[in-house]
Amino acid sequence: MCGIIGYIGERQASTILLNGLKRLEYRGYDSSGMATILERKKRLSIRKLPGKIRTLEKLLNKKPLTGTLGIAHTRWATHGEPNKLNAHPHLDCKAEIAIVHNGIIENYAELKDELIKEGHKFRSQTDTEVIVHLIEKYHTNLSLKEATRKALTKLKGSFALGIVSCREPDKLIGVRWGSPLVVGVGKNENLLASDIPALLDVTKEMIFLEDEEIAVLTQNNIDITTFSGIPVKRKPLHITWDVSQAERQGFSHFMLKEIHEQPPVLEGLLRQKIKDGEVIFAELEPKREEILAKKSLCIVACGTAYHAGLVGKYLLEELAGLPVAVDLSSEFRYRNPLVDKDTLVIAISQSGETADTLAAVREAKNKGAFILAICNVLGSSLTRESDVVLYTYAGPEISVASTKAYTAQIMVLCLFALYLGRLRSVLCVEAQQKYLNALKKIPQLAEKILKEKDQIRRIAQRHAHFGSFLYLGRNINYPSALEGALKLKEISYIPAEGYAAGEMKHGPIALIDEYRAVVCIAPQSRIRQKMISNIQEIKARRGKIIIITTEGEEEVRGQAKEIICIPSVEELFSPLLIALPLQLLAYYVAIKRGCNVDQPRNLAKSVTVE
Ligand code: AGP
Repeated sequence: MCGIIGYIGERQASTILLNGLKRLEYRGYDSSGMATILERKKRLSIRKLPGKIRTLEKLLNKKPLTGTLGIAHTRWATHGEPNKLNAHPHLDCKAEIAIVHNGIIENYAELKDELIKEGHKFRSQTDTEVIVHLIEKYHTNLSLKEATRKALTKLKGSFALGIVSCREPDKLIGVRWGSPLVVGVGKNENLLASDIPALLDVTKEMIFLEDEEIAVLTQNNIDITTFSGIPVKRKPLHITWDVSQAERQGFSHFMLKEIHEQPPVLEGLLRQKIKDGEVIFAELEPKREEILAKKSLCIVACGTAYHAGLVGKYLLEELAGLPVAVDLSSEFRYRNPLVDKDTLVIAISQSGETADTLAAVREAKNKGAFILAICNVLGSSLTRESDVVLYTYAGPEISVASTKAYTAQIMVLCLFALYLGRLRSVLCVEAQQKYLNALKKIPQLAEKILKEKDQIRRIAQRHAHFGSFLYLGRNINYPSALEGALKLKEISYIPAEGYAAGEMKHGPIALIDEYRAVVCIAPQSRIRQKMISNIQEIKARRGKIIIITTEGEEEVRGQAKEIICIPSVEELFSPLLIALPLQLLAYYVAIKRGCNVDQPRNLAKSVTVE
């Protein structure tokens, strides 16, 4: 996810663009850039570099940009390392057109090949750069708007664009398809941006573009049409949010916002990785034979990523038929791990900078293992030290408590397990189809759970006073119990333990009394009866039970008053849905207890030290 902004008016663009970029930093911050046009000289100038927006600010202080028209961008890299060449804006060959982009161009490789054959010279590894060369190709005999419209017909994927050309220095063009774009309506000035916060310093009057719309902004006019040229009339909305609220898009915390981003994040992964009924990992193709030759898998990770890895064990053993060991990175690195050239090591990390996981990967590489990373941050240390990387494309995760990165990691593991099962010919086409059909339903089922959040909030409020929690789960939802306990303890500071429910009689049952809240994860499952027995043992000792189960599981529902239901889903994929009520339960308990949800005490978003 990136942040884009554009300005056209009577004031100098640079300061307005920079302030707006700072309001978009939550969307991505590995590199940034700006381009302005000095109208009377019809000259385009650009500044861009890796690093946070303050590095761009320092550069602009040293080498200011002038002009009353400009665009700017803060990047969350998806294609191409975070560096100066890959930073936006991107220019055409003659440096007359500049573009900023938020989204992913899925067919950029073939477009790039065609354009190179036509003589275009590319400077970056990004997907975005193909757009500005396409516009250049058509701008020779078409207006900027018409050239843009023609270029759009070639693109597949998602894009919110800001475009300027020094051949038409009185226009700022905005395009929306699959990524958000808002137009800010000012007095003798107009703007466009990825999100409301970037505009609030200038105006509260905003027009929200819809998909397939293109806006042409001048100093005193805004002209919106569809891609096919049909005029669009839309009144500006008056925005009442203050800036900090708007950065969270109206959510009270980044954690709640990121919980709600899970359906589109999961949808995006499915859209990217499933083509014509098959799971496609183009990034793995060059290493296909090497991966196929592996005889065992070993997953290393920390914290929430470790819990995703535990879910991955069940998925990979069931679907790919390979033995899977899962290790805490901090343990793996200090024992003599039995990995070698026949081992595929999967390193899972949202940040890609966790010291223990990096150390574990180095240890495994020294022993000859093949490293596959599952990571959310392109260009992070882990991605540079791995043999292949599967990105989670979850966008920046700002809240310390990991939510959307966790379910995105599990989704990637589901897809990889299906891919490996087919590669190893242990999963037939029909079985894969059955699983893919079930997987495709997940985003809408997740959305359905989020709509019931008020019921979960009420249950959380009724249990926020408990001094300790026990989370119980079985089979593929044993890791869900561990993750639920971690979510609660790290943001509400309540002691919470996750346990395999079958372990109850081996110790934890001694803890049960009326002062202990027990979360029982009991979805539709072939071992449902075992969970019902556990629940009855807890009831007999007056434990306060919260059950998470599947709609229609009347026998389970009858076991307690406090019930949270998830929609029916393939059991293998149930952790993807169970995660949501667990996240919301932790969130609302922490709110009730007045905790700092996004920045819990003693914690950091990325543990880059041992
Ligand atoms: C999870 O909510 C925590 N923030 C923490 O356990 C985190 O998952 C762990 O530090 C691993 O981080 P990584 O995914 O960036 O490697």
